[in-house]
Order: sequence, then C-alpha cells, then structure tokens
Amino acid sequence: SRYNAMINLRKGLISREIFSSKEVFEEELEKVFTRSWLFVGHESQIPNPGDYFTSRMGAESVILARDKKKKVHVFLNSCRHRGMKVCQYDHGNTQLFTCPYHSWSYTTEGKLFGVPQFKSLYEGCLDKEDWSLIEVPKMEIYKGTVWASWDKDAPDFMTYLGDAKTHLDLALDARDGREGGSEVLFGVHKWIIPCNWKFAAENFLGDTYHNVSHRSVDLIGIGPSAEAGVKGRRDNELEKAQHVWVNFPGGHGVHSALMPENTEFVDTYRDNPVIAEYFRHCHEERKRRMGAERNRLVPFVGTIFPNVSFHGTQPRNLCVWHPHGPEATEAWRFFLVDADAPQEVKDFLRKYYMRYSGPAGMTEQDDMENWNYATAGSRGVIAKRYPYNYQQSLGKVQADHLMPGNVSTQVSEENPRQFYRRWRDYMNGADWNTLLGRHDQQPASFAE
Ligand code: FES
Repeated sequence: SRYNAMINLRKGLISREIFSSKEVFEEELEKVFTRSWLFVGHESQIPNPGDYFTSRMGAESVILARDKKKKVHVFLNSCRHRGMKVCQYDHGNTQLFTCPYHSWSYTTEGKLFGVPQFKSLYEGCLDKEDWSLIEVPKMEIYKGTVWASWDKDAPDFMTYLGDAKTHLDLALDARDGREGGSEVLFGVHKWIIPCNWKFAAENFLGDTYHNVSHRSVDLIGIGPSAEAGVKGRRDNELEKAQHVWVNFPGGHGVHSALMPENTEFVDTYRDNPVIAEYFRHCHEERKRRMGAERNRLVPFVGTIFPNVSFHGTQPRNLCVWHPHGPEATEAWRFFLVDADAPQEVKDFLRKYYMRYSGPAGMTEQDDMENWNYATAGSRGVIAKRYPYNYQQSLGKVQADHLMPGNVSTQVSEENPRQFYRRWRDYMNGADWNTLLGRHDQQPASFAE
C-alpha cells in the first residue's frame, strides 16, 4: 500500500507526507479515529444527573452526559433532523438537549422527546423511537476516565491498553497509591497549535531527546525534574534512576523510570509546609500500600494510541490532541488532583499547572514553537521530497527486561517506530488481531 512505502521501519524513515497531506488526514479520520479508543472526559466533570461536558472524538463534537438514573452516555452532538449541534455549551446541567434550529429536543438518555407541531406535521410519519441521538457503541469508564470507540467490534479497553496500564495507572491513581480517587481540576485548557496531531502525540511517547528545548525552564527550576517548584535533590535521585522507554503492541509508548531502591521522600515543597506534609504523607502511604518495589516506578510521560497523552508526575494531566486539519491540532489539557486533597494543595497545584503547562505556561511554549516551525519547514515542495529520520537507537531493543513491553534503557525512537507501525496498520484497514500486535514477530525496528 502507499502507507507501506511512506513508513520504512527497518531503515527508520518516515515520509513527511503523513504530517501534511489533506488526503492522508481525511483517511486517518476515517480509519484511525473511528476505530481506536479515544478519551472523552472524566466522571468528576459530570457528577450529577443531567450534567454534561461537550467533548470531541476525532474531528467531531460529542456530548458526555449523565442521565437521570446517573448512567453515563457519549452522544454525537448532532441533531437527527439537519445535524445542528444540540449542545452549544462547554459544560452544564440540563433536563433536555434542545436543538436551536427547529427545536427538536432530546432527553439525557438521548431519546427524541419533543418535536414542535408533532401532531399536525409528523403523526404517522415519524417514529420518535427511531430518531434518538447517535450514541457510541463502545464506552468504558476506567478509574474515572471515560473512553469510547465508534467501532462495535473494538476489543474491551483493558485489552486495548495492554501493559501500558501500569504506567497510565500511576497518572490516574491517588498520590497515596489508592486506586482511582482523582478528579479533574475545573476548567480544561484548550488551544489550537498549527501542526499535525501526530507531532504532539509522538513527543509524549517519550521524546526525552528534546529536553534541550526546555533548558530555560529547567535552569529556573520549574522543569519536570523539579516536581512542583524547587530545583534540588530530586534531580540527583533522577540521575541515579534507571530510565526506560517502553512501547506496547497497541502502539502506546511511555518514558518512565525505576528509582533507586528505598528512595526517600524528596521534599521539593520546602517553601510550603502544608504541601510538603501532604506529599510526604502520600509517599509513605504509597510505599506501604504498593510495596517498596512497585513504588520505585515513576512515570514521566506517555501516549495511549492514537492521541491521548499523559504526564504521570507533575504536572499530572491527560492531554488530548484533537485533529482539526493536517496542520491544525486542538490541544486539551485535563489537570488531575487527588479528589480528597486539602483545598490548599489543590490551589497550589492549580497555580503550578498553569505556570508549567497550557497556552500560558512556560514549558508548553517551547514545544509549540518546535511543532509550529517544524511544520512550516516541512511543507515546501522540495522539503517534502525528503523523509524524516527515525534512526535513533535503531535495532537496540532490549526485549528481555523484567518490565513488560519492548523496553529500551537508552533514549530511543523505538516508541515512535512502534506507533507508526500500528498507525500504518490502521491506515491499511487491518483486523483487530493485527491492531493489537498479535501478529508481531519482532520489535518495530526489525519489522518490514
Ligand atoms: Fe435540529 Fe432541525 S436541525 S431541529
């Protein structure tokens, strides 16, 4: 297929075409975004009956809603009459979704409820039962996060996630090691970046190589290694840690680290005793609950195929890279905190998150600058004739590491190679066994 020619894994070459072609973009909406599991939102955003949050799946608007009986639904935000958005707001609470065009209304279960002048105009022609809002065939809630797929044949979400679960869990679980127990801080950061969505997804697969881009924030002590504020002993601990870049059959990839044994709590919140005490308590509790060995794993970043990334430490968040066009991506950041943390801790983290991430944060600017100008520098007639280089640590996969997944203990582009191998399979219309990597004989570096 044309995609086999665009992605040469053995040589580590990928055509620039897949980051700029309108045709490729349209095809990936159809072949990637209608099949894979996508993150829609978090239960904590819709705690009460009638609550809704307007989200996106691929390029389409969807409504995440909790009905009267507290059941969660994901609907396409499109009226069955002429397709108008039935929900115009980012979030809220309602009894009915009333279409602003001709006023058809739908219940929070998605049923068509009201049709103006029904008796005189539609009686005998329109069966309301047949015209509910379009609902996703597959939806699952995992530790508060809501995921959905348009493919009724998609495997369950846990199968899809595979061993990437261990890493994502550490972002979703409470800091003291309790399962779940997180909430999204009110307000989702949203902004549009002039680049292809895969630039961002790939960066979060574990592109540690780009750390030079963030040198300025590291120098002033708000980089990720400084946890939430002060540069210090944490950096030394991280230097002693074993860093791993791991990819998984489903196309997911992470950069995590195994901290030295018996790592003590590192107080990076020295200027605020309440915050310091909270995190010290979490550290001890976590060790008690998980055991010293499991407590060693620290996840930095990861991407769950195709477009959901996360930061596992601080700033702890999920980011979704919504495709808008071949050269436009809408980034959404959901910041996570422990639901039962003291308000002072939540307030502190909110400020830290804003300072670090998002459109007004100091770190995100560096990445956006790169993706923006890399896109601009790649679209020219001549530029497009030359592939991108993905040869970093080619063939240096260390598959016998104790940790599940294909593990590299040195900075590596094996994670993106695996990501694009799966992307190519989706684009080739492969079956689910292939998409789950069940036919993979070897790591991506050695694959055709
Ligand atoms: Fe919704 Fe006509 S488009 S009622």
